This record gives sequence, C-alpha cells and structure tokens, in this order.
Amino acid sequence: MRRSAQITAAAFALAWLPVISVMGQANEQTEFDIWTTGPLLKAVQLAPLYNDSKTFVDMPALTSPSSIQANFAALTADTNGTLAVEDLQEFVNQHFGVAGSDFTRYEPADYSPDGPPEFLPLVTDPAIRQWALEVNALWPYLSRIETPSVAEQPSWHSLLTLPEPGVVAGDRFREIYYWDTYWIIQGLLVCGMNTTAQDMVTDLLHLAVEYGHVPNGARTYYINRSQPPLLSQMVVLLYNTSKDTALLETALPVLEADYKYWTTAPKAVPVDIGQGKTFNFSRYYANWTMPRPESFLEDWTTASFLNPTTQQTERQELWRNLASGAESGWDFSSRWFAPGGDEATIRVTDILPSDLNAYLYQMESNLAYLNEEVGNTSASSRFLSAAEARRDAMNAVMYNADQGRWTDMLIESRNAQGVATVTVATEAPYVSNYIPLWAGLLDDQPQEALAVVDSFYHSGLIQDAGIVTSLNDSGQQWDYPNAWAPLQSMMVDALLQHGGNEGERVARSLVQAWLGNNYAGWQAIDKMVEKYNAITSGEVGGGGEYSVQTGFGWTNGVMLNFLERFGWNPDIAPVPAVAPQAASSAR
Ligand SMILES: *[C@@H]1O[C@H](CO)[C@@H](O)[C@H](O)[C@H]1NC(C)=O
Ligand SMILES: *[C@@H]1O[C@H](CO)[C@@H](O)[C@H](O)[C@H]1NC(C)=O
Ligand SMILES: *[C@@H]1O[C@H](CO)[C@@H](O)[C@H](O)[C@H]1NC(C)=O
Ligand SMILES: *[C@@H]1O[C@H](CO)[C@@H](O)[C@H](O)[C@H]1NC(C)=O
Ligand SMILES: *[C@@H]1O[C@H](CO)[C@@H](O)[C@H](O)[C@H]1NC(C)=O
Ligand SMILES: *[C@@H]1O[C@H](CO)[C@@H](O)[C@H](O)[C@H]1NC(C)=O
Ligand SMILES: *[C@@H]1O[C@H](CO)[C@@H](O)[C@H](O)[C@H]1NC(C)=O
Ligand SMILES: *[C@@H]1O[C@H](CO)[C@@H](O)[C@H](O)[C@H]1NC(C)=O
Ligand SMILES: *[C@@H]1O[C@H](CO)[C@@H](O)[C@H](O)[C@H]1NC(C)=O
Repeated sequence: MRRSAQITAAAFALAWLPVISVMGQANEQTEFDIWTTGPLLKAVQLAPLYNDSKTFVDMPALTSPSSIQANFAALTADTNGTLAVEDLQEFVNQHFGVAGSDFTRYEPADYSPDGPPEFLPLVTDPAIRQWALEVNALWPYLSRIETPSVAEQPSWHSLLTLPEPGVVAGDRFREIYYWDTYWIIQGLLVCGMNTTAQDMVTDLLHLAVEYGHVPNGARTYYINRSQPPLLSQMVVLLYNTSKDTALLETALPVLEADYKYWTTAPKAVPVDIGQGKTFNFSRYYANWTMPRPESFLEDWTTASFLNPTTQQTERQELWRNLASGAESGWDFSSRWFAPGGDEATIRVTDILPSDLNAYLYQMESNLAYLNEEVGNTSASSRFLSAAEARRDAMNAVMYNADQGRWTDMLIESRNAQGVATVTVATEAPYVSNYIPLWAGLLDDQPQEALAVVDSFYHSGLIQDAGIVTSLNDSGQQWDYPNAWAPLQSMMVDALLQHGGNEGERVARSLVQAWLGNNYAGWQAIDKMVEKYNAITSGEVGGGGEYSVQTGFGWTNGVMLNFLERFGWNPDIAPVPAVAPQAASSAR
C-alpha cells in the first residue's frame, strides 16, 4: 500500500481497522488480518485442523474479523489457554465458510466449446483435436468471479478484490497467481479468449497499483512477496496483438512502479563487479519474517531446530528465506540450499539469481520498447541503457564461459557501504542458468548464443519426456525428475531463436516429447497436472510440500500454444536423452 496513496488504498485501510482496534497494537499490526497472523491462525495450523495448511487461510469469515478475534479471545480465556481440538474445529465451523466459497465458477463470454473458427490449424489427428477441445473446455472450469461480498466487505476475505474475473491455476491454487498468468494468457489467446486474457492483465495491473508491486497471488497473505516479474512481458504480448496504445497509457506507470520495487533495496544489492565498478543486481527478498500462513505448519516445523528465545532472529531470517523461495517461483529447489543441506539451510536472500536478473533485463528492454511506441524517447533510452548495463554486468559476473551458461551468485560479504562481494553459488546445472538466453541477453551475439545452446545440449537437462529442472534428485519439486511447463516454453523459444537449424530440430522434438508426456498423462488420469516426470512420459511429478495439483492453468496454456505453433508430430525423431542419472540423492 506504500506506493499507491489512491482512493482504493483508503478503502483497503478501512478494512483493516476492526482488527487493529481489537488487537490494540495499531502501530505494529496495521496490515495483519486473521489469516495472516495471530493466535487463531497459529492454533488452527498447529493443531492441525486441516491436512493442507492452505485450507484455513482460504476460508472466508462469516462474521466480522473483529468479532471473531474477540470471540476467540473469550474462548481461550475461558479455557485458560488450553482448547480441545474439537472445540477449536467447532469454533472455526461457526465462524468461517468453506475454502473458496467466496468466488464462483463462471463461463467467460468469449469462451466457445468449439474453440475459435481457426482453432489449431496444424492439428489434424482427430484424437488430439478432441483432447485440445477438452482442454479448451477447462477454461470455464478454471474461471472464477468473486462474490459481491469480497468487494463489499473485503476484511471478511483473504481474497483480494479484483476488478475482473480470471483464470486460476487449479486445485489448492484457488486464486490468480502472478507468473502463472503469463502462460495462461498464451493459452487463452490460442482459444480466442482475448478479452479474458486482457481481463487478467487488468487484474494484475490493478494489484500493482494497490500494493506497488504484483503480489505472489490474489490473497492478503501473499501481499508481502511477489513472483518472477513477467508483467511487462504480458503487456507486450497483448500490445503486440492489439496495438492498443490506451493499454500502454495505463500500464506504463504501473510497470515503472513495479520496476522500482525490483530494483531498489532490499531487493537490489550493489555488487563489486571489478575495475572499481559496482552494479545493482536483484534478488528475491520477501518482506516477511513469520511462517507463510498458507504453509504455516511446514515453516513452523522447518524452524523447530531453532530456539525461540535465543535464536529469534535466525528463525525470522529462515522464515524470510522460505517466503523468498516462494517468491522465486522455485519453491523449493536444491538450488536455494547450502551444499549438502536441506530446506533448513535455505539461503535465497543471499543469492543473486541468473533468472531473476534476466527477467529484469527483459523488463528493461520491454519498457524501452513500449515507451518508444508511445513516443517517449527519453524514457525509452533510459531503459535501454539500464538493459545494456545489466546485460554487460551479467555477462561479466554471472556468465561462465567454460560452462556456457550463467550461474547464480552468492553474496559472500558486504562492506560498510553495503557493497557485496560475490562468488558462484553452485556449478550444478539448473534450467534457470539458461533463462538469460530466452530473455534476450545474447540477441546481438549469435556466436555466443550458439555456445550457450550447445552447453544446454550437453547439460544433461534434456530427457526423454521433457527438460528436467535440475539433475539433483533432492525430493524437492523444482529438481530432478520434475519438468514444468513454463521452463519447456522458455527453452523451446530460446532454441528456436538462437539454435539455427539444429536448434529448431531439437525444439520441435522437445515440443513433441512434452506434448506426448501431457497426452499420456491425460489418457491415464484424464487430467492436466501442475508438473510432470521428465524421464517417464505420462507420469506426474512428485516431491515438495503438497500433493500434485490438477487443472492446470500454465500446463494447459503451454500445451495449447505448442499445438498451435507446431502441431502434433508423433513421428518426429526424439531428442537423444542424456543418461537419466541423478547427481546425488538427499533421500
Ligand atoms: C485431506 O483431507 C481430505 C478431506 O478432509 C481428504 O479428502 C484428502 O484425501 C486428504 N488428503 C490427504 C493427502 O491426506
Ligand atoms: C489456569 O492455569 C494456571 C496454570 O496452568 C493455573 O495456575 C490456574 O489455576 C488456572 N486457572 C483456572 C481458572 O483454571
Ligand atoms: C513484440 O513486437 C516487437 C516489435 O515487433 C518485437 O520485437 C517483440 O519480439 C514482440 N514481442 C512479443 C513477446 O511478441
Ligand atoms: C486475439 O489474439 C490473437 C492471437 O494473439 C490474434 O491473432 C487475434 O487477432 C485477436 N483477436 C481479436 C479479436 O483481437
Ligand atoms: C544502486 O543502489 C544504491 C543503494 O543501494 C543506490 O545508491 C544507487 O543509486 C543504485 N544505482 C543505480 C544505478 O541504480
Ligand atoms: C517491510 O516491512 C516493514 C515493516 O515490517 C516496513 O517498514 C517496510 O516498509 C517494508 N519494506 C518494504 C520494502 O516493503
Ligand atoms: C508486510 O509488509 C508490511 C509493509 O509493507 C509490513 O508492515 C509488515 O510488517 C510485513 N509483514 C511481515 C509479517 O513481515
Ligand atoms: C542435492 O540437493 C541436496 C539438498 O536437497 C543437497 O544436500 C545435495 O548436496 C545436492 N547435491 C548436489 C550434487 O548438489
Ligand atoms: C516519459 O516517461 C517518464 C517516466 O518514465 C515520465 O515521467 C514522462 O512524463 C514521460 N514523458 C512523456 C513526454 O510522456
């Protein structure tokens, strides 16, 4: 709310007032609500009343949060600090509705069960067309409109008020997410649902106006962190389709505020890049020092080795790191852990990530392009310079010429002025090491780009059924053997753009391997899922904090986009897979 100062911000502040007055700690807890912190949250989550920590925080209040607070205080006072689980459950049943009951499924006006007139011209196989139509039919299944109560009584909901309906990710991910939306709108455009795509971007722009950045997702408990910053990429995608400069008039100031959020402290860190120069690289850094409300029990347990009285600062920093891992989109991955360690050693805030800085390079390039389109040449050249400076710094500091890829950097120390000295975080390959190629860092250097493509071929990340996230079988979901739709999408585009004829051949094989994987999974369980196994086609992914989720927004988006651009080619030569051997196992 810091950067908004708008009417909406005032309305939102009012919504918090009852909570403040009850808690009597207005100056400290102005932004807290009953789903975000407080004794009720802690009691419900540690009981635990639900087998998924996300259930309770998604339950709308049936009465005012202030009266819930008061009733709960009275209840616990009566029981002198001990409360039977049955009584707690009864209390929750009386005061809260079913998780997700504050929005309803809805059929977008631009949805057609037959798809648009020119649906998937390259797909002739009738079974695959049928599959694509059934996935198209998932859009209304995943579309949500908020009940009027969300706007009328925002404090009764953890759901954030949105101006437009939108497509959610699926299952426990009951709301709109930030980076998921980029791939969801690609799928919507394939299905002729341009208005729905536009509506979703309107929602994200609205959230960025409200909070100064786009929150991780549309919930109060997600406000203090974001997700990989792809909003400018979404705006470019829509703008390139419509050439509507009115969109840019609205979007540019918002994008600029979001840019500032990502490029100032604490997210930006000045780094000594040699020859007396510094450059401000960015990191994921959540403004959050408690267990994530939606993973409260998990984070509480992860920190249980720390003593609450003597190691409170360490606990808070661990919780900040877990929330920052969620902000990275890669929650969780061995990428973020100290060598040999597990999630208790998570050190996201000490890492300057190659993918995040690549997304910011892309944001700078996009802001240069969009400002040029509205005739703002001074802003355009300012962002162009920023992009060039970041590219040069990334290539100087993060690029490893021997490996042919960019690495995450680890902050070793910071001097009195806050300038950091950095070292390589890990030599191991992650798909994130190649994201700068997709983001355009080597668009002007075709030979160097080819070297990166070649490095990718030899990285071991290319497997029979897709691109695997890493080679470490850590049990985390952003690691071996899992494969994620957005990573397939970005790498296929990078190979097409930079790999020449061979790159195109590999890209087409990867597309078919991925589609084959999705289709085999569909035939087996009749569902699209959040992540797949990169080794065995048709097998869903595993690991992590929660069971595999179906739906699934970005998977559907990438699948439809691939089918539109490449068709279905089961006879294409497969990509020769590197032996699917994990580097190490933590289990
Ligand atoms: C969680 O609980 C719900 C019902 O409360 C049940 O359907 C589901 O199977 C449970 N999930 C797990 C992973 O235990
Ligand atoms: C409440 O608990 C405390 C300590 O656990 C005990 O000393 C006290 O007598 C209890 N009060 C009542 C009213 O039960
Ligand atoms: C948008 O259009 C510009 C100008 O034609 C082009 O350079 C850019 O690659 C396009 N971006 C996307 C995401 O379509
Ligand atoms: C919707 O988007 C698609 C793909 O980006 C584009 O080809 C089409 O012209 C758009 N349709 C309308 C009505 O704007
Ligand atoms: C880099 O960050 C420092 C403070 O952390 C700030 O003073 C400086 O202006 C920043 N430089 C640029 C180019 O943004
Ligand atoms: C983070 O939260 C603190 C209070 O805990 C607040 O003072 C500060 O402005 C916030 N910082 C950012 C960057 O949002
Ligand atoms: C969330 O950020 C706000 C400021 O934007 C801050 O006041 C609050 O303390 C932060 N919450 C946590 C739990 O750190
Ligand atoms: C794989 O990840 C685990 C943590 O989950 C870590 O202990 C181990 O060192 C990692 N192995 C390699 C080779 O990076
Ligand atoms: C160009 O953009 C900057 C923000 O980057 C803004 O302050 C300025 O007013 C714009 N200039 C024009 C002519 O629109």
